[in-house]
Amino acid sequence: MRVLVTGGAGYIGAHVSELLQENGYSVRIFDDFSNGLARRVKNFKDIFNGDITDREAVLKSMEGMDAVIHLAAKKAVGESVSNPLKYYTNNVGGTMNVLAAMSLKKVNKLVFSSSAAVYSPSERDAIEESDPTEPLSPYGATKLLSEQLINKVGQAEQISSISLRYFNVVGSSKVEFGDNSRDNLVPKVFAAYKEGKSPEIYGADYPTKDGTCIRDYIHVQDLAEAHLVALKQLELKEVAEVYNVGSGTGYSVEEMIDQLEKSMAVDLKPVTTARRPGDSPKLIASIKKIEKDLGWRPKATLKEMIDSAWDAEKGAK
Ligand SMILES: NC(=O)c1ccc[n+]([C@@H]2O[C@H](COP(=O)([O-])OP(=O)(O)OC[C@H]3O[C@@H](n4cnc5c(N)ncnc54)[C@H](O)[C@@H]3O)[C@@H](O)[C@H]2O)c1
Repeated sequence: MRVLVTGGAGYIGAHVSELLQENGYSVRIFDDFSNGLARRVKNFKDIFNGDITDREAVLKSMEGMDAVIHLAAKKAVGESVSNPLKYYTNNVGGTMNVLAAMSLKKVNKLVFSSSAAVYSPSERDAIEESDPTEPLSPYGATKLLSEQLINKVGQAEQISSISLRYFNVVGSSKVEFGDNSRDNLVPKVFAAYKEGKSPEIYGADYPTKDGTCIRDYIHVQDLAEAHLVALKQLELKEVAEVYNVGSGTGYSVEEMIDQLEKSMAVDLKPVTTARRPGDSPKLIASIKKIEKDLGWRPKATLKEMIDSAWDAEKGAK
């Protein structure tokens, strides 16, 4: 089975591509290296350097493929607010190009990187796939629009699809695969530490056990495994599904900082600042659906997630 992995030189894409290759799939990486790193794809021969917004390039890269894992996207929530056009062009336009090329080249299996950012703010203990969606940011909106596009085009063009709504992805399976973005809690803490600054906790007056926001963290290797089982499902039958991918467990920012201090063996001296507009107090995935349908279960502990993230950060050049 030949699989086109868009965004394959990215943080998550590299983990997915490596796992697919280890499992006997033939992988073609598609990336414009805007945030991808060459060091992450050094074990791959078939690399297509192209922009997902370039329809001709996407069409050309689709030649000979049997399936697509579509990860290429811009992902900075804050930037999506200041520059929504960039996000709609890349994320929605890119998905349209992938679907158009799949349709023309008769490629009928698609796994899509969606996000927990599609959900409305919720007070529920665990968010289910059927819960209301009302993204707070243009970034979240591009993911929901892409899901809808995939669903409608998939029905009309017989493209089987699974959209995976990732929660907060952390960790690394290899030093060279680490997350080079600075948008999420763990990389932000590393960046602050390296600059000799205190990490910020945005609000400690939320209605949670210690007043800080609670999120669901998933090890990137567990997430990569979810792509593998999703692809296997698409090989078995025609589906159009959406699944949450998280650990099903919530950790507060304070608990995360505690674990970071242990893994890094430092005193981070965090400072509490004002709440950020739009942050939900709590976001935890219900993972019952993916466990039931695909038999997928996360394995990594919080310690393993943070230890591996710190190892990658220390080893990053
Ligand atoms: N990291 C997270 O916590 C998280 C959570 C939810 C969803 N996601 C989604 O997962 C996917 C991968 O995220 P990531 O964390 O690995 O980010 P990343 O930035 O490391 O990977 C994205 C890759 O896509 C490439 N890319 C971006 N725009 C492109 C374009 N126009 N043409 C070709 N390539 C392009 C980048 O160069 C990069 O290699 C994204 O779709 C993101 O929205 C990530």
